[in-house]
Amino acid sequence: MAKARIAIIGAGMMGHGIAQVFALAGHDVTITDAFKAALDVCKDKIVTNLRDLGEDVTAVERVRPVADLAACVREADYVVEAAPEDLALKQKLFGEIEGYVRPDTILSSNTSVIPITAIMQGLKKRDRALGTHWWNPPFLVPLVEVIGTQWSSPAAIDWTIKLHADAGKTPVHVKKDVPGFVGNRLQHALWREAVSLVERGICDAETVDTVIRASFGRRLAVLGPLDNSDLVGTDLTLAIHKTVLPDIEARPGPSPLLEKMIAEGKLGMKSGEGFKKWTPEKQAELRTRVLEHLRKAREAEK
Ligand SMILES: NC(=O)c1ccc[n+]([C@@H]2O[C@H](COP(=O)([O-])OP(=O)(O)OC[C@H]3O[C@@H](n4cnc5c(N)ncnc54)[C@H](O)[C@@H]3O)[C@@H](O)[C@H]2O)c1
Repeated sequence: MAKARIAIIGAGMMGHGIAQVFALAGHDVTITDAFKAALDVCKDKIVTNLRDLGEDVTAVERVRPVADLAACVREADYVVEAAPEDLALKQKLFGEIEGYVRPDTILSSNTSVIPITAIMQGLKKRDRALGTHWWNPPFLVPLVEVIGTQWSSPAAIDWTIKLHADAGKTPVHVKKDVPGFVGNRLQHALWREAVSLVERGICDAETVDTVIRASFGRRLAVLGPLDNSDLVGTDLTLAIHKTVLPDIEARPGPSPLLEKMIAEGKLGMKSGEGFKKWTPEKQAELRTRVLEHLRKAREAEK
């Protein structure tokens, strides 16, 4: 794909990593943030990541932090927003951005779960608007879900898929704009049952995670659930569903256990306790373990 001008809104956890991927793919990147401190450290964070990964550190020279939103997006072929997960903020940002960009500039949100339709509905030209949902860390997890709304043009979707594929990502096309898209729907279906198992006293939190990590979690990266269904037979899948589904958690709202934990200040790592207790050392050990695992998986794919 020809070199494109990419503008990124939000230089936080996702924004700086997305900038890194596009810069490494040879594109010119501008990036902005409402907070100067985030913008000031953005290039340093990219350099550290590139160095740790053994990638070309000079790629960072293609990233230009810009304090002003208009200056960040004015020349862009493609704008991706990675600001906080707040619908009103995202709507406001795209309303402003639309006033600065060309009519054919593609506009995308990296929202985790908010329907793209809700974010983009106020735009004058909605055929160039879509969603691109990356996963953290963006430079190690391959998937990008490309979400179209009822207004998105096939040309905008195709161009965006090619942009991400050429940058080494694994883009998939999500054809209907549903909350959570595909990945987070699947992930949270699992989390709902995981929380419920603890809430019902069937096992403790450590056991839930051990069961997953030591069983189907091991296979998931190479054997998706529908591969697995075909492997064991759709007839066995149906038989299992008949027995298990009536007992699986199906309530539409969040778990009362989760709400109770939050009321008690058990917010997870940031408060030192969630489902488990977290010392700073345990937190650091987990983060290192996850990064090492993702790095090795990436190396194995090269
Ligand atoms: N963290 C993840 O695992 C993950 C994964 C996929 C998608 N997302 C989504 O990506 C988006 C960003 O998440 P994150 O984890 O990078 O958050 P973050 O808090 O690390 O970064 C958000 C950045 O946006 C900046 N910001 C705030 N208001 C702004 C404004 N008006 N204009 C420009 N910048 C502004 C903040 O200063 C911050 O640097 C969210 O919608 C989130 O749901 C996050």
